This record gives sequence, C-alpha cells and structure tokens, in this order.
Amino acid sequence: MKALLAIDQGTTSTRAIVFDAAGHKLGTHQVELPQSFPKPGWVEHDALQIRDDAIACVRGALKAAKLGAKDIAGIGITNQRETAVIWDRKSGKPIHPAIVWQDRRTADFCAKHADRSEWLSERTGLLLDPYFSATKIAWMLEHVDGARARAENGELAFGTIDSWLLWTLTGGKVHATDASNASRTALFNLRTQDWDDELLTFFGVPRALLPEVMDCAAEFGATDGALFDGAIPIRGILGDQQAATVGQACFAPGMIKSTYGTGCFMVLNTGEEFVRSRNKLLSTVAYRFGGKTTYALEGSIFVAGAAVQWLRDAVHLIESAGDTEKLARSIEDTEGVYLVPAFTGLGAPYWDPQARGAIFGLTRNSGIAHIVRAALESVCYQTRDLLGAMREDAMDPTELRIDGGMVVNDFVAQSLADILQVAVVRPATVETTALGAAFAAGLQAGVYDSLDSISKLWEAEAHFKPALASKKADALYAGWQTAVERVRSQPG
Ligand code: G3P
Repeated sequence: MKALLAIDQGTTSTRAIVFDAAGHKLGTHQVELPQSFPKPGWVEHDALQIRDDAIACVRGALKAAKLGAKDIAGIGITNQRETAVIWDRKSGKPIHPAIVWQDRRTADFCAKHADRSEWLSERTGLLLDPYFSATKIAWMLEHVDGARARAENGELAFGTIDSWLLWTLTGGKVHATDASNASRTALFNLRTQDWDDELLTFFGVPRALLPEVMDCAAEFGATDGALFDGAIPIRGILGDQQAATVGQACFAPGMIKSTYGTGCFMVLNTGEEFVRSRNKLLSTVAYRFGGKTTYALEGSIFVAGAAVQWLRDAVHLIESAGDTEKLARSIEDTEGVYLVPAFTGLGAPYWDPQARGAIFGLTRNSGIAHIVRAALESVCYQTRDLLGAMREDAMDPTELRIDGGMVVNDFVAQSLADILQVAVVRPATVETTALGAAFAAGLQAGVYDSLDSISKLWEAEAHFKPALASKKADALYAGWQTAVERVRSQPG
C-alpha cells in the first residue's frame, strides 16, 4: 500500500509528514519560518524561503520514512491562508515579499469602504478586513513599480501559499488553487464558486492574475521530477483550517472543531447550505469534493499560541511553552487577572483592527504564574466568544473536537471544557491539519473510497468534561467580557 505525504506550510513553520493509509505518521521534517515585521502592524514572509523550506521538508520527511517518490500515492498541500504572493510568470520571482494574513497595512482602505462590507459579505461570506487577500493584492499592485500594467498584460500571477507551492513544485507548469483557499481571498463568490467580476472591479484586481479554482481533491499536477528523484502527483489542496476540519472528520452538519496554532480557528460544518452569520462569523468553503461544496461557519482569533510565544520571546516569563502548564497549575486561579492578547487587533466576533493587548486586575500578589495562566485562559475565553456566536447563528454543538500544538497541554484542554461548559475531545493525532491534506490526496488517489472511510480512521485520545460549576464559569467569563470592552477602539 502506498503512503501519502502532506506539506503543511503554516505561519511560523513549514513541515512535511508522510502518513500510511491508516493515518499513522511514518516520517516528518520541520523547519521554523522567520517572520519579518518591517513596520508596526506589518507582517511579511520570504516566499522563496517558503519554497526552499517546503522542498527540504519533503526530502527530509521521505528520508525519515525511508521512502522514495514512487512510494507516495499523492501529495496534499495545506497552508496558512490569505497570505498573498505575486510573482513573475517568466522568472518565477516574487515581485514583493509575501504579505501575511496578520498584516494590517490595509486597515485604512477597509475603514474607508466600511459601507461595502455587507455587499462583500453577501457574495464572499467574509467581511471587509485587512485579514483577507484582496486588499493585500491591491496594495502590491499599487506600490510595486509597474505591477499593475504587468498584471493586466498577464505577466504576473497571484497565489495564496498553496498556489505558490503548486506553481514552484510543478516547475511553473500549474497555476491553480482549491475552493477552500479561494474562499479566503474576498474575490471568490461562494454561490457561483467562481471569481466574481464585481469584486475584481472593486478591488482593482485583473482576472489575468488569478489561478484556476479546482476541487480540494483533484489532479493538480506532478512535482518536477528532478526535485525528489521522481515525479509525485499533487492530489489535494486545502487551507489549513479546512484541512483540520477534514482531519477531524467533521463531515456532518453541526460537527465542530477548533485548532490552536498561531491563532485559533473554530469551524462548524453547516452542510450544503451557505449560512450567513448575524454575529460577524465568516461563511466559508469547508471543502469541495466531487464538485459538491460543503460550507462552514468560522470564527477566527488572531492570537492563541502566539500569546505563549509572546510570554517566551517578548517578556521572557517562561523559557519554553512546556513551562506554562506547571505554572498555571501552581495557583488556584488568576485572582482576577485577565490578559487580552489583542496584539494585532481583535478578530471574531469583534473585528477591531485598532484594539491592542492589555493585562488587567494586577495586585501586589500577582506574579508570573497569574499572567501565564491568564494568557492560557484568554484562549479559552476567546473560544467561548466564538461558541456563543455560533450558538446564536446556527446550531448548538454538544462536543468540540480540538487540535493543534497548544492542546497537548492538558490544562488548556480542561480549561476549555470548564470555561465553555462543553465536552471537549482530543484526537489520537493532533496533527489533524496535515492529516486532512493527506486524506484529501488519498481520496483522489483512491486510497479511500469515501468520506465515511476517512471518518472510521478518526480516534479520540482524551475526553475532557466540564468540572467547573456553570455559575463560576459564567462569572469568570463576565470578567473577560469587561476586559475586552476596555481594549476595544470603539465600544461594542
Ligand atoms: O487564516 C490564517 C490561518 O490559516 C493561519 O493558521 O496555523 O498558521 O496559525 P496558523
């Protein structure tokens, strides 16, 4: 039986994982991705570095698994979404560093056109916010010399990171993306499942710049034979949160997962229906297989694991992320300390790009443990914000499937159950993002015959039941809501 290989290109790292058909890891290779912050609120990545890292990771993972190109039934690519790259089709060189999803440089444009948000949302399920690719593309066309004319002449190509990797790995042969990534650009019409001419005109993006939109499991092309000692077919592409939804086997309407990486992203499967949120959640493509689109509601929080990185790298309160659990458990509670990690503004359900982080409730008794615990709990409170919005919008989930690096921390998993007052389940594989991309490639390769056969591979590793009285949870959450109100740039 052939194996599957996932490339998971995230915000802070790139990795490749080889899985067997049962979803067990056979080999992995990972490298950290340097971040560049050229101005306050700006975040950039080196797209060529991302390409080189992806190639090195595939080689490393194949080596670790002791397998070669011929043993792989398909590659699945999954990626940080919204991050925008524009490159020259001839030279293959990016015209500007990749503008990362967290980048806020287009906040003024969005504020100026705030009256178009409803119009945009009706088509795309999104909001007019710097988070999405469209304003980043427009910014590059505006600020890079000659870019607009070259884009109009068809000399340039735009892609989210999946598309950029597909292009580079196929030796510049294929310029395509999948529906889940396309749905994050703010240029893609969710109903027609195509680029939308009115949106293209509004943002000033020429159609000639855009990739072809394909299903999430498809024949995307093959890797250049010289890269990995033989060509490997690329058969799956999904944005990372959508890949995690597949990896968590959330295939039925009402199923919900939450992934804790740099940020936290909660995705609720809403089935074949495009549900519009009344609470500023996003409607998005969960996945598109066999031409059939499944939609989702998504709540996006910009800072989750990044709060732990901040504790470690900026204020040096901990040496490694692993220290947080012991410190958090060393005290009964935070004694009223709240940390609101609005370092890059607030995402759902507030959407306040101007808000900034703060710590409240400090006393002479407050120490490192209180701040660390408050940082971990902030992730749980933000998750409760999202769950509350989802309940009001659509359905009332009884169970939350969690994954991502942060939830190997049992304190975080239990606090989620306590603060949310919902049963929380952690799967055997917390690398569900990579697994979901591998599943998509396996679906296309015929390793799996249906989503049902993928569901059967999903296994729970630990269950966390609420152990805190609901009154106490409500009181703690009320304190969080007060803290959030104090960092918002405008009262909610
Ligand atoms: O929308 C941004 C998201 O795709 C980034 O995910 O895992 O890199 O934080 P992550």
